[in-house]
Amino acid sequence: MPLFIIPSLSSYSQLTGYFFFPLFSMETLTLFFFFLLVSFLFFLLRTNYRTRWRLHHLPPGNFGLPFLGETLQLISAYKTENPEPFIDDRVSKYGTVFTTHVFGEPTVFSADLETNQFILQNEGRIFESSYPSSISNLLGKHSLLLTKGGFHKRMHSFTMSFANSSIIRDHLLVDIDRLVRLNLESWADRVLLMEEAKKITFELMVKQLMSFDPCKWTEKLMREYMLLIEGFFAIPLPFFSITYRKAIQARREVVEALNLVIAERRRKGQSEERKNDMLAALLDGDGGAGGFSDEEIVDFLLSMLVAGYETTSTIMSLAVKFLTETPQALAQLKEEHDEIRSRKSEGKALDWKDYKSMPFTQCVINETMRVANIISGVFRRTTADVSIKGYTIPKGWKVFASFRAVHLNHNCFKDARSFNPWRWEKTNSGGTELLNMFTPFGGGPRRCPGSELARVQLCVFLHHLLTQFSWVAAEEDKLVFFPTTRTKHRYPIIVRRRESCTSTPS
Ligand code: HEM
Ligand SMILES: *[C@@H]1O[C@H](CO)[C@@H](O)[C@H](O)[C@H]1NC(C)=O
Ligand SMILES: *[C@@H]1O[C@H](CO)[C@@H](O)[C@H](O)[C@H]1NC(C)=O
Repeated sequence: MPLFIIPSLSSYSQLTGYFFFPLFSMETLTLFFFFLLVSFLFFLLRTNYRTRWRLHHLPPGNFGLPFLGETLQLISAYKTENPEPFIDDRVSKYGTVFTTHVFGEPTVFSADLETNQFILQNEGRIFESSYPSSISNLLGKHSLLLTKGGFHKRMHSFTMSFANSSIIRDHLLVDIDRLVRLNLESWADRVLLMEEAKKITFELMVKQLMSFDPCKWTEKLMREYMLLIEGFFAIPLPFFSITYRKAIQARREVVEALNLVIAERRRKGQSEERKNDMLAALLDGDGGAGGFSDEEIVDFLLSMLVAGYETTSTIMSLAVKFLTETPQALAQLKEEHDEIRSRKSEGKALDWKDYKSMPFTQCVINETMRVANIISGVFRRTTADVSIKGYTIPKGWKVFASFRAVHLNHNCFKDARSFNPWRWEKTNSGGTELLNMFTPFGGGPRRCPGSELARVQLCVFLHHLLTQFSWVAAEEDKLVFFPTTRTKHRYPIIVRRRESCTSTPS
């Protein structure tokens, strides 16, 4: 999300949508007048902000141009290879909490650890998650990402109990191992790692949510999903944007497919053995609180898929990229996994004990999430006037808590902008001190319920990749941060099967 990716992404998208679209479209004139009108309204509002700036203690900053604010600066900043130019610049001018105006709204940015924690912990009290309409229309109003209050609490803990460690250990791990292996079987020569990783994580989520093995049906579902996700980055007006129209259509297809699955399950419910998946749990309802409606179940499944697959697959590919560029880490990781493999007979699945004996792998995963920050931070909206660091943020304002700014801050992490998995080693006393500054999965009531599941998937994937293959990068491929964190060319690699694994044991 890119979810969570989602908040940041989607807003970029709105921007790309609203402001770049006119350059290419037939409706240029209409949009131009629309723009003029909005600019005028904005000027009126702006006078109002100015007064507030003086009256209230807003964090220092700059509102930039009318309507556009500093949005263009933000976009162009993230197109460079420097991961944090927009925030770096303003932090040096104004300090770690500053005001700007992006995506059509005044927004307070926080690059400050304590402020970020304050924002996360006060979710539901003085802050609430805030997603643009492009996202909410596509996810559906019952999506976990959008629900608030009591229903959110209930759904969040429900999700936690679906993906907690005992469930993963007892039920999910087996399929994760099997499906990762199955995918790697067909790998030969040149592989587009980002594409393959997406396929793997999509299949895993579908399996875990509704027990489907990969087939034509899941392939079709994945195609629709990709269209749907593209809609997050489009202007949320069907009239103006083909991408958005297609995404809405794709949502309809997905909803229809999921509805059929639900109907089928309800029908067979009595006669067949109960499946051990998320859908079964949803159909049961949770502990006396009353069941869920079909509509709620559909929105829920749909957004779990969105939340679970782009994120994990991006980290999978980027971990491989960083390892390829850090041979010493790659060698140490290979040793860790060869050691695990050597204790097991050929082809035997990984079990929980194996997963728990991958300390260096966990360091690599943490370091990948720290450096890459696929979810650079989260957007929230204040539900009351909020005092932070002697400033006041007015009620109803947007706030962006930047995790990336903290993760890449030299005062928090030594030599913060280089990939150094050893910093996480327990022996490196740093390890535990680093933890409270490290929020790749967010925090507070909305902390990612899929964090353990994502880790297990990453570990299993790295294990089979390392023990079965050696590889080199097929071409130089740079990391970019816009609109999502990814590499420019989907990270092509040339793979070769390792000898030890092809030889049959006698
Ligand atoms: C490396 C992979 C992942 C990363 C970095 C990640 C990160 C995050 C972050 C930062 C949030 C908080 C968003 C916010 O506060 O607004 C979040 C929420 C969420 N994540 Fe993940 N996630 C990952 C994988 C997964 C997986 C595998 C699942 C599926 C089980 C999942 C399901 C969710 C859901 C349902 C939410 C919404 C929680 C809520 O609003 O209560 N995520 N994720
Ligand atoms: C995980 O969730 C299940 C219910 O789905 C529950 O019975 C179990 O106690 C939970 N385990 C942990 C470690 O929280
Ligand atoms: C990695 O980060 C998580 C927090 O997301 C932490 O619980 C874990 O201990 C870290 N692992 C290592 C090896 O530092």
